[in-house]
Amino acid sequence: MITKLSKKEKLLQLLYQNQGYISGEKLSQSFGVSRTTIWKYIKYFREAGYKIESSSKLGYRLISSPDKLLPEEIKLGLKTKKLAERIFYFKQVDSTNTLAIQKAKDGAQEGDIVLAEKQKKGRGRMGRDFICPSGGLWFSVILRPEIKAMLATRITYLFAVAVAETINQLGEIKAEIKWPNDILINNKKVCGILTEMSAEIDLINYLVVGVGINLNFSADIFTGELEDKATTLLTELGYEINRVEFFQSLLKNIEELYFKLDDFENVLKRWKKLNCTLGRIVTIKDNRRELTGEAVDINQDGALILEVDGQEKKIYSGDLLLD
Ligand code: BTN
Repeated sequence: MITKLSKKEKLLQLLYQNQGYISGEKLSQSFGVSRTTIWKYIKYFREAGYKIESSSKLGYRLISSPDKLLPEEIKLGLKTKKLAERIFYFKQVDSTNTLAIQKAKDGAQEGDIVLAEKQKKGRGRMGRDFICPSGGLWFSVILRPEIKAMLATRITYLFAVAVAETINQLGEIKAEIKWPNDILINNKKVCGILTEMSAEIDLINYLVVGVGINLNFSADIFTGELEDKATTLLTELGYEINRVEFFQSLLKNIEELYFKLDDFENVLKRWKKLNCTLGRIVTIKDNRRELTGEAVDINQDGALILEVDGQEKKIYSGDLLLD
């Protein structure tokens, strides 16, 4: 990370950089802490799943690391300036969005992230459940943008662009965006985004953007009506990706776009390039209505412009079905 690494994170970095053993003496000197503290750090990493060999004469040597999204691991190769300076990591939670909202209320700072290996009650749009087993990427970002509440949808667009571009940077599969913010591969959903906020008209108190990406688990877990609608990167690619590296790239892509939030034109241009919605006949469904027409454009507010019987209608929310 461009911001400072903690001593514990630096220790992990050193273990990675050295093929052989590093002595406890050398480690305690480099970090200006006692050998007991070094031993405590090592114990922490072992408990987290790292295999670290120790020898009383030679010191410590890293053998293997766990397949986990541990904050220390993420921060080592992270190239963001502010985003993810603090990561609150959990093996399992009900919902990272629920937890992030609580943290935002308690004063968490812009860029803080809540991340979990698994969610028991993952929440989707329109009050739906979202399936979140081990192997995926389930996280929520706390933001405090200085924009009017009505422009908050811009942030969701930005996140959708960042996710689709990160998947496309893998170079083997093509991710597309279905309005408003579902990411699809081969017409099946691989990622959903849920943005929740607390705001007054002129001011956003906080915004929590929850992102759920189906990465390293098989799409076989999706049954019933989800069977034909959802997929995972593992199923599409045929192999597991490095989740830590994927997350690092995604965070970098999100931050780059977020720093240039004023230039929504740029986000919109990229969104349009990735979208599979515009130019098609679609049906918009919500609790109150069902409307079918041609999706012709997205405006500066993030509304979908739907042409129905020769008339243009602005749609701000709802489910979109592609014909
Ligand atoms: C949707 O497509 O309906 C949105 C799904 C959003 C799921 C993510 S997973 C991380 C975060 N925590 C939640 O409970 N939901 C979001």
